[in-house]
Amino acid sequence: MKHFIRVTILVILITVSVGFGLQALGLMPPLASKQGESIDKLFYMEIWVIAFLFALIVGFLLYSIIVFRRKKGDESEGDHFDGHTGLEVVWTIVPLGIVLYFAFLGSSALAETRRVDPAAMDVTVVGQQWSWRFDYDDYGFSSTELVLPVSQQVLLTMISNDVIHSFWVPEFRVKQDVLPGKGMERELRITPTEIGDYKVRCAELCGLEHAYMLADVRVLSESGFQTWVDDQMASISNDPVVRGENWYQQYGCLACHSIDGSKRAGPTWLGIYGNEESLADGTSIIIDDDYLLESILDPGAKIVLGYENVVMPPTGKNMNEQQVQDVIEFIKSLSE
Ligand code: CUA
Repeated sequence: MKHFIRVTILVILITVSVGFGLQALGLMPPLASKQGESIDKLFYMEIWVIAFLFALIVGFLLYSIIVFRRKKGDESEGDHFDGHTGLEVVWTIVPLGIVLYFAFLGSSALAETRRVDPAAMDVTVVGQQWSWRFDYDDYGFSSTELVLPVSQQVLLTMISNDVIHSFWVPEFRVKQDVLPGKGMERELRITPTEIGDYKVRCAELCGLEHAYMLADVRVLSESGFQTWVDDQMASISNDPVVRGENWYQQYGCLACHSIDGSKRAGPTWLGIYGNEESLADGTSIIIDDDYLLESILDPGAKIVLGYENVVMPPTGKNMNEQQVQDVIEFIKSLSE
């Protein structure tokens, strides 16, 4: 009996030190969403169960190693034990109960992260190698950073332009794979609870630049968010040429196409509209609206002489019709 009392005390001591020790390690970044609350609660409960199971095994093990060590000169056989049906039933039923209870907690936490707020703001998340774009469908503009008002639920509808990515903001806890293909949209609901700056990380290995597939997330006060929306709206010009220049920068066309005549991976846009251009296959074309439209949507269709088919990112498919038209207007304006 005295052994059991000692082991019990040992198990309690190990449980408490491992439990508090694991929590003190700060395994989780600060919590910043409502959906994360039930996840964290579950996580810390599991830490205590883990600490207890660890203590139960290691406590008995350590105690036995030290106290029941074979004495010097003792060559006798160990005691013989028969099974103990009662004990076996207990150690089967009790863990089963605990596992079922945690399954219940897990499914309630999952349900909690999916709780629908009908007033949620809609944002479409587009992932592609290797960047994120956020379409504010309620306002009609796009952004390369995710800006959210605090304490309001946002419904993120996610789609990928190429391979599988995964949307993950550690402080929000919830995570969702972003899949390519029609009808493969996935949803995630987030209600930010803390004003601050965070980062979206891609959590699915998606190619060369996977590790750098980041985007800024800013959670603002309600009035701060409204100011940001107003600024975004104001920057959407009525002039298609100005909009086109905007897309030229936002969608990264500038990486390969100069507007000052210099040669980059793709042809410059300066003064090309209306020109006759020789193609790699020996034919030639006049650069008009149709040719530009085709080149934006299907970059490999006609390659200009002297350039490689470097597989332009599917930028055109990522833009809506109006944006593509704006870009064409911008290219035209560079020949006037
Ligand atoms: Cu996208 Cu990893």
